[in-house]
Amino acid sequence: MLNLKGKSALVTGGSKGIGLAVARRLAQAGANVAICGRSEAALASAVQGLRLEFSAAILKLVAFAADVREEDAVRNLFLKVDSEFGGLDILVNNAGVGIFKDLASLEPAEWKTVIETNLNGAYLCSHQALSRFRARQGGWIVNVASLASKNSFAGGAAYNASKFGLLGFSEAIMLDHRYEGVRVSTVLPGSVSTDFGMSGRADWKIAPEDVAEVIASILAMPDRTLVSHVEIRPSRPKKP
Ligand SMILES: NC(=O)c1ccc[n+]([C@@H]2O[C@H](COP(=O)([O-])OP(=O)(O)OC[C@H]3O[C@@H](n4cnc5c(N)ncnc54)[C@H](OP(=O)(O)O)[C@@H]3O)[C@@H](O)[C@H]2O)c1
Repeated sequence: MLNLKGKSALVTGGSKGIGLAVARRLAQAGANVAICGRSEAALASAVQGLRLEFSAAILKLVAFAADVREEDAVRNLFLKVDSEFGGLDILVNNAGVGIFKDLASLEPAEWKTVIETNLNGAYLCSHQALSRFRARQGGWIVNVASLASKNSFAGGAAYNASKFGLLGFSEAIMLDHRYEGVRVSTVLPGSVSTDFGMSGRADWKIAPEDVAEVIASILAMPDRTLVSHVEIRPSRPKKP
């Protein structure tokens, strides 16, 4: 069973959807949890919900507005996490956006938004986390990629590029830093029932809590073992 008592975690994009479910699961396991996102209102409501669910006397549950595309904002975010928790054990790179268009209609600003959020954001946050993890020879980075990290689809020019890139980045840093006690894992969900993208929520989709449970099971592995990546699929996907 996962026990994260005394550990601290940062979940990017933790104000809703998969990120919020992961934040909740980590708090359930006893971790202090920080979430970030761009919308202050969404963060306030998410952290209020978490504090109602888990005793504030035992856990620190905090939210910081930060855009993962911005280097200074990410640096400040990690400084705030340092001062709140006095250390970080787990980073979950979950913040992500989807813009689904063919190349003819994909504007440069849209390309930039997707790549900078899904790929550069994970780099900036991992870079900050890594310096802390290496200093203490321990830590965990979990990247939320996608089945779109391996399977291209029509309209996926920007999203596929960002998620293929994220998987490559993730596996490379896993190979580089595992000798320093840093474990890097990647989850690749298929369709998850959140407000992400155009198709919205549906009963046949994976629940955000199920992705959180997979991440919890990865984090529960003994020190000697690293789950490098996991594909997660709806068991009965809607037939095309
Ligand atoms: N839903 C799916 O079917 C599915 C499948 C596979 C993988 N994924 C991946 O799972 C992750 C979460 O998706 P979701 O379905 O939970 O989406 P969601 O419900 O739309 O949540 C996205 C989260 O990311 C935050 N975010 C977006 N841009 C950000 C930025 N620049 N800086 C900081 N935070 C940012 C959002 O908050 P703000 O908007 O307030 O910033 C929100 O908290 C994404 O990486 C997505 O690619 C989703």
